[in-house]
Amino acid sequence: MNWVEKYRPKSLDEVVGNRKAKEELKRWIEDYISGKDRRPVILAGPPGCGKTTMARALGRDYNLDVIELNASDNRSAEIVRSIVGSAAESKSILGRRILVVLDEIDGISGTMDKGGLREILNIIKTAKNPIIMTANDIYKPSLKPLRERCKVINLRPLPTNTILSVLKKIAQEEGLDVDEETLKLIAKHAQGDLRAAINDLESLALGGSLSPEEAKKLDSRNVEKSIFDVIKMILKTTKYDIALSTLWDLKEDLETLEEWLSENIPREYKKIEEVATAYDYLSKGDMFLGRGKRRQNYNLWRYASALMGTGVALAKEEKYRGFTPYVRPKVFTKLLQNKSKREILKRILSKISSKTHVSTKRAREDLIYLSTILERDPYLGAELVRFFEFTEEEVEYLTDKNTAKKIFKILKEREKKKEIKKDKIKKKEEKKESKGKQITLETFLQ
Ligand SMILES: Nc1ncnc2c1ncn2[C@@H]1O[C@H](COP(=O)(O)OP(=O)(O)OP(=O)(O)O)[C@@H](O)[C@H]1O
Ligand SMILES: [Mg+2]
Repeated sequence: MNWVEKYRPKSLDEVVGNRKAKEELKRWIEDYISGKDRRPVILAGPPGCGKTTMARALGRDYNLDVIELNASDNRSAEIVRSIVGSAAESKSILGRRILVVLDEIDGISGTMDKGGLREILNIIKTAKNPIIMTANDIYKPSLKPLRERCKVINLRPLPTNTILSVLKKIAQEEGLDVDEETLKLIAKHAQGDLRAAINDLESLALGGSLSPEEAKKLDSRNVEKSIFDVIKMILKTTKYDIALSTLWDLKEDLETLEEWLSENIPREYKKIEEVATAYDYLSKGDMFLGRGKRRQNYNLWRYASALMGTGVALAKEEKYRGFTPYVRPKVFTKLLQNKSKREILKRILSKISSKTHVSTKRAREDLIYLSTILERDPYLGAELVRFFEFTEEEVEYLTDKNTAKKIFKILKEREKKKEIKKDKIKKKEEKKESKGKQITLETFLQ
């Protein structure tokens, strides 16, 4: 089990921070049970501050059977409806009251199922059970109708000190050899997100790099942080459940994960069979990913992530110890290159249009002729290049490296010849001038 799950509080008392919100939540469930307040509750707050954890812990503390569903899953509405449909069904087979947790309701707007929100609104009107919803952002305009029908409890990002205290506890329980400065750096970097902090601690510990220097690097990783941690977990672990559960917290999409894994598998795995098996799983996962997309059946993505995550993790016989320098996928570098190419093209077009007074659209149409001339007749090409004032990089874009070199060599030679010519003329003129000015005895006497 990964540490985020291992150290997930079971009871509200263990949940740190947001004390007021915890009290409010308790009061709400008591009011619900006594019939005083039958509104559903929305726990709103940033990632990793304990929303899902609190909802589950509340259920446990009050002896309720928790049914947790993801709001953006299309089937959730149906399940909830079948559970909360009638009063008789509002208790579980054990005779206990059911607490419905609809996780991440801000994920429903924007999904294909536009009726999702309407469905939830209908459900909460008739529900005979307490319902807790969680969301990062409930102030989206589309969620206004929901907001108005619920009790909203706001959670705040956790203070660095609170995060630090949890990290210390985990470090102690795991017997880590780590100094306070490192833990502080991790806590600070997490910016209120305890999940991120615990994940950082675990991945640094796993990579054997629990030092202030390594912790400082967390800051420069920024956006790539989560994907970086996830591939590290997958490539380092040999445990099925760790590989699978680390994917739940992945904020990036599966295609990005695929690119990162594809780039880094051979950097971690050293045995050829392991590399082959890992790629095999990756490509099988890719098939599910593609099919899911084409058929808009996103349930298939579950298989994709299982194949990619656990397949790749279990492809190795044993864990490779030590630090592996993972790199960002080449695809991104290519994208960046493409971006700079677009910039070059833009410059070329603007030069053509300003010299020949045509639109850049028209200039684009002429590019093909320009390229052909440059390639076929470098001497004429050189004239054109001088006229348009293209740089070597721009000529390379229009043709290729060799042609660009050739053309610029011609230009340089011409430039040299011109200089020589100029020099000669200058010398001649100087001669003439000095001749004219020659002072002879004759002229002197005149
Ligand atoms: N307040 C907290 N007290 C103790 N542990 C916490 C707290 N908040 C988060 N954690 C730790 O972080 C993990 C993730 O927390 P949780 O799933 O509750 O976050 P969340 O607020 O639901 O985030 P998200 O918006 O991403 O769903 C937990 O498993 C637990 O280990
Ligand atoms: Mg959550």
